Parts: sequence; C-alpha cells; structure tokens
Amino acid sequence: MNPPFRYKRLGYVALNVTDLARSTAFYRDLVGLDFSDATDERVALRCSRDHHAVLLYPAAAPGLKRIGFEIESAAELAVARDYVESLGLAVEPVSADERKDLRLVDAFRFRVPGCGLCLEFFVQMMHMATPFEARLTNIERLGHVVMNVNAFDDVLGFLTSKLGFKVSDFVPGFAAFLRCYPNPLHHSMALLTGADNHLNHINFMVRDVDDIGRAMNRMKAANVEIVFGPGRHQPSESIFLYFLDPDGMTVEYSFGMETFPEANAREARLLEPVPKTLDLWGSVPTPAFGKIGLIEQAALPA
Ligand SMILES: [Fe+2]
Repeated sequence: MNPPFRYKRLGYVALNVTDLARSTAFYRDLVGLDFSDATDERVALRCSRDHHAVLLYPAAAPGLKRIGFEIESAAELAVARDYVESLGLAVEPVSADERKDLRLVDAFRFRVPGCGLCLEFFVQMMHMATPFEARLTNIERLGHVVMNVNAFDDVLGFLTSKLGFKVSDFVPGFAAFLRCYPNPLHHSMALLTGADNHLNHINFMVRDVDDIGRAMNRMKAANVEIVFGPGRHQPSESIFLYFLDPDGMTVEYSFGMETFPEANAREARLLEPVPKTLDLWGSVPTPAFGKIGLIEQAALPA
C-alpha cells in the first residue's frame, strides 16, 4: 500500500562520533566530502550542491543518530506529518532554530517502532553557491544506509506497509533491500537481521569504477582498515569497497546500481542466502564489517 506522500530521495545521514575533529578530517580528507560548515553542535559535509549529506555530532559512543529523507513537496510533507500521527507515533517537531541551522525549509521527526531509529522527513535543503568539488572521489550521492535490527520482521513490515518503502530484493532470514518509492534506486535503505539494533554501513555511490580502485589504494596508504571487497554485489549489481571510519563504523563506496521504473517495476527477487549473493567475486567480510554504531534511541523523559 502506498502512503499519502512520495519520497524524493535519501537526503542525509547523521552520525554520532567520539572525536569530531578526527572524524571530520576522515570524511573530508579520505572519503572526499566537502566541508560545508560547523557549529558547536555538529559538522556538515556535502557531496553535491545540497548543504549536507552527512552530519557529524560529538557523542560518547559512535552510532546512527538519524536518517533524513526528502519528501517531494511541502504539501506532501504536511500530509505525511498528519499520516505519521495517525499511525499513533509521536511526531517530534524540528525547531525553527534547528531548521535554520540545518538549512531546511520544513522537517519533522519520529521513531521507527521496533528499532527506535529516528527518521526525519524534510523538504528543501539549501543549495550551496558552489558545486561539490570532487577532490578525491567522484561521489555521486549518499547512496544508502544499512542497519541490523533484531525485530527484523516487525521493522520491515512497518517500513513497507506503513511508510511506503518497496522491497527490491530479499534474502530470507537475512536481508531486505528497500527503495524509497518512487525514487528509482534499487535501495536507499536496507535491513539485516541482528542480535541488537545497530548501523551496518553507510554508502556513497561513485561515478567511475576507477574511484573504487583509487580509494582502495588511498585507504591502504592511510592505514584505513578495509573490511570487505573490492567485490560485486549480486542484488544491486554494484562494485563495492568497504572500510572503517575512525570510530570503526563501516563506510562503503559503490559503483553502479539497478534502477526501477515507477510503474510496472519487476517483483522483488528471492535471493539464495549464500556468500556469492554478497560478492560474486568471492571476497569475504572481516569480523569488523558492520559491527560498530548503535542506533541512537530516544532520551528517556527526565
Ligand atoms: Fe551497501
């Protein structure tokens, strides 16, 4: 069932990091994002004209603070706010000061039942005067965010039956790849089963397969731990490389991804749960892959 609003795209991811300066340097000087600006509260980094694709927040423990999805129009955002409330969820307003700071015209937040993830729906992020400068890697966009959740079936059911995400492919008892319909990308979010609720990885899509090879050598030279790849995913057909950020959170570059038409898209495929589904080239993730980064939960009332 489609909800009464439409997604435009995955807008940004907010991460908790334990050393703001160290992580800012990593995402700017090794991943290749451009620095937008910083306040005492957060650092904003971008990979397009949009003000930010990544927000870094100082915190005691690393983790996934929030995911922001852009909704197609302000009118639909208003409808989405009423709709989320009608589901019985608490809508958290984003103050005028914070909207101004984050360069968003309008936004609201809520928590996904079953995993506590903070989702933000927003419209219209400020376009910066200068284009993204691809100094290291031709980053095309923030591609997707993947999480391990222990109430896998409940969270998947909520995202698909209530929030309008569509399953592009799934691996029974292991993974579901979700697109934010009608956005055509194979997945902007994915769920994996887990013993707890944590970030698995964030992804940046790149424009050229050479970006993957160059990144591998750049990361090796900087002693950044590579935890999976290079390889090729069967579900999305993308060529990938995974590595760890300074807190041990997993970051991916990928090249290429299947896209879906808005109407008459193919059905989700049921993929065999074998290692080749993850990598057709046969690489295997190290134990550090996708382990670090708790999904930040709502603060308890004082
Ligand atoms: Fe990925």
